[in-house]
Amino acid sequence: MSQSETYRRIVLASRPKGPPTSADFRIEQTSVPNASEGGILLRTLYLSLDPYMRGMMSERAPAYTRSIAIGEVMPGGTVNRVVSSTNPRFKAGDLVLGNSGWQEFSTSDGKDLLPLGTLEQPSRALGVLGMPSFTAYVGLLDIGQPKPGETVVVAAATGAVGAVVGQIAKLKGARAVGIAGGAEKCKYAVEQLGFDVCLDHREPDLGKRLAAACPQGIDVYFENVGGAVFDAVLPRLNVGARIPLCGFVSSYNDESLPPGPNRVPLLQRVLLEKRIRFQGFIILDHYATRFQDFRRDMGEWVANGNVKLREDIVDGLENAPSAFIGLLGGKNFGKLVVRVADN
Ligand SMILES: NC(=O)c1ccc[n+]([C@@H]2O[C@H](COP(=O)([O-])OP(=O)(O)OC[C@H]3O[C@@H](n4cnc5c(N)ncnc54)[C@H](OP(=O)(O)O)[C@@H]3O)[C@@H](O)[C@H]2O)c1
Repeated sequence: MSQSETYRRIVLASRPKGPPTSADFRIEQTSVPNASEGGILLRTLYLSLDPYMRGMMSERAPAYTRSIAIGEVMPGGTVNRVVSSTNPRFKAGDLVLGNSGWQEFSTSDGKDLLPLGTLEQPSRALGVLGMPSFTAYVGLLDIGQPKPGETVVVAAATGAVGAVVGQIAKLKGARAVGIAGGAEKCKYAVEQLGFDVCLDHREPDLGKRLAAACPQGIDVYFENVGGAVFDAVLPRLNVGARIPLCGFVSSYNDESLPPGPNRVPLLQRVLLEKRIRFQGFIILDHYATRFQDFRRDMGEWVANGNVKLREDIVDGLENAPSAFIGLLGGKNFGKLVVRVADN
């Protein structure tokens, strides 16, 4: 690989006001870097697109992450091929899990790379064997703690996190009730992922339909989306219910809080009267203590066919912005990944 060759990268062009638009991203062509001493040159094969990236585009990013600068390469988890290396831990041809972001080539000192060996379907390292699935595992098992016969509800039920939540709930003997956008996703959730029921949140009367789908009430609500889905769930929570607060994607594009009435006292009353455990978590905190357990259990479940995750693969780095914009509006169907290069 010579330095005269060029590659493409996508940078933040402007901070979105509300939902991102294509004008908030800029595609640039630049020279392929030379890996410095001890360094590694990487080609990006797959790029993961995830809701947290929206927060990083804002001036005031969430506390667990940082705001990226205008002109900075968009961040993101990647599967990479080592092109060349002067680092003894890696050699040309190795497949690694990296953090290259939205670009075709990058360099690394190796500290942020995880060897992937000979993974048959490398994109899975970004989905069912990676961060979103680990999030489902920790959130549901450690905070949700479903027991046999209990009812677990999760929205974005065919998405990267939600699909795995539903399948683990079933493995633990619970009833899994999914909520998803559209009839096709709901059909898939029941027929392919094994949810007991799945409700379309775009159809009217979600609250009534949820009550009918959960005759024994709700014991675990795995919170992915917030908004109208949370409103429908709240009155149906049982005494002692657990809510792992994983995300609230329906509000990520909001510039400010919605207008009143102030419903905090209502929420506090329900949480108190029903002794509900409502706990936020950030998956980054759990790698040191839980990732090995996850690897063991999920590796087995995936190998046995107990857990699967549909991938929504978009071809070409240039299509990352439109795919990401679609993710925030429910256009993805499964774990959203960009195929940047074949090998
Ligand atoms: N806490 C952590 O460490 C952590 C780590 C990873 C992910 N997360 C969070 O987990 C959640 C799911 O992430 P993911 O990567 O698995 O994404 P995903 O489910 O693959 O994609 C996002 C989905 O959210 C749903 N959605 C978007 N707007 C909605 C709305 N207004 N109402 C209801 N549903 C809406 C859409 O599904 P439908 O079409 O089915 O509605 C969309 O496909 C996000 O909130 C994310 O921020 C948190």
